[in-house]
Amino acid sequence: MKTILALETSCDETAVAILRGRELLASEIASQIAEHEKYGGIVPEVASRNHLIQAPRLLERVACSGKIDISNVDAFAATSGPGLASSLMIGVSIAKGLATGFGKPYLAINHLEGHLLSPFFSDGEVKPNVSLIVSGGHTMLIRVHGLAGYELIGRTVDDAAGEAFDKVAKMLGLGYPGGPEIEKRARGGDPARFNLPRSMLDSENFSFSGLKTAVRYLFPKLHGDFLPDLCASFQQAIVDILVRKTIAAARKYNVDLVTVSGGVSCNQDLRWQLGAACARKGFEFKSAEPWLCTDNAAMIAFTASLRLQAEFESKVTEEIDPNLALA
Ligand code: KG4
Ligand code: ZN
Repeated sequence: MKTILALETSCDETAVAILRGRELLASEIASQIAEHEKYGGIVPEVASRNHLIQAPRLLERVACSGKIDISNVDAFAATSGPGLASSLMIGVSIAKGLATGFGKPYLAINHLEGHLLSPFFSDGEVKPNVSLIVSGGHTMLIRVHGLAGYELIGRTVDDAAGEAFDKVAKMLGLGYPGGPEIEKRARGGDPARFNLPRSMLDSENFSFSGLKTAVRYLFPKLHGDFLPDLCASFQQAIVDILVRKTIAAARKYNVDLVTVSGGVSCNQDLRWQLGAACARKGFEFKSAEPWLCTDNAAMIAFTASLRLQAEFESKVTEEIDPNLALA
């Protein structure tokens, strides 16, 4: 049974996890949201400096809570892309240093593969499926044949779904990240009150910028207690687009299983409506557990463990890739 230590520093969360076999011994995340809030967005240099401060602390914490001596770890992994170059470098450099120092394998992991495989975290075996990845930086449909066998079906041509939640939340004067803020306000709202556009419904790609613009034009004209209805209508438009395209892809590629992952898949309406649509159409449905949906190192450790088992290994000379593709 192999013990893997993984670091995730692709954006503004520093995360470290230790996985032994299928058992998660420790998983720690330090969020930098507060640091970046005062600048109104993520400042890359602030992010990398914070990773540099947080990563050693989290390494100590996971070793302590996982009751493991780092010298007993069998392999070290880190997210090597996609993400912010100066952030990726921190986790990757630490993992490479540990792997070299202890003479153990190093695995460079694609952040998107981490999300993609997270619905299988508790079973440990990847089955063929059509997968929707919905996060702050990505919205894509992937045909999964098995570990490392991925084909891109469609992706967003403009904003990611999470980015649309974040931008609309900012427009409405709500906090960051916008997804949970909008979901909270949408409770009890009427999702049919505002007729917002659902773009490119017949394409395998996604577009959310028209929806965002529609809210921008509508919002100044509204009066009274419109916020719950506006949030519910916006959220429903996103859910409709995601559910419709995912089901269409599952039918086209004739799979038995549909999976969803990434930060936006924390959204209860999305989970419930996609699950219900799959049940109606006869597809099995799997979503990552909510704690595994937003960025974390457990999904990176899990992906690394499957790759190690399948005898993939990376060279310590391998570079980070801010634009690393999944398929
Ligand atoms: O996967 P993630 O942590 O980071 C990226 O890799 O991008 O996703 C973060 C995104 C943010 O845009 C956030 O607003 C969105 O996930 N998100 C949600 C919810 N929770 C997080 N969107 C909708 N509903 C939620 N409950
Ligand atoms: Zn992510």
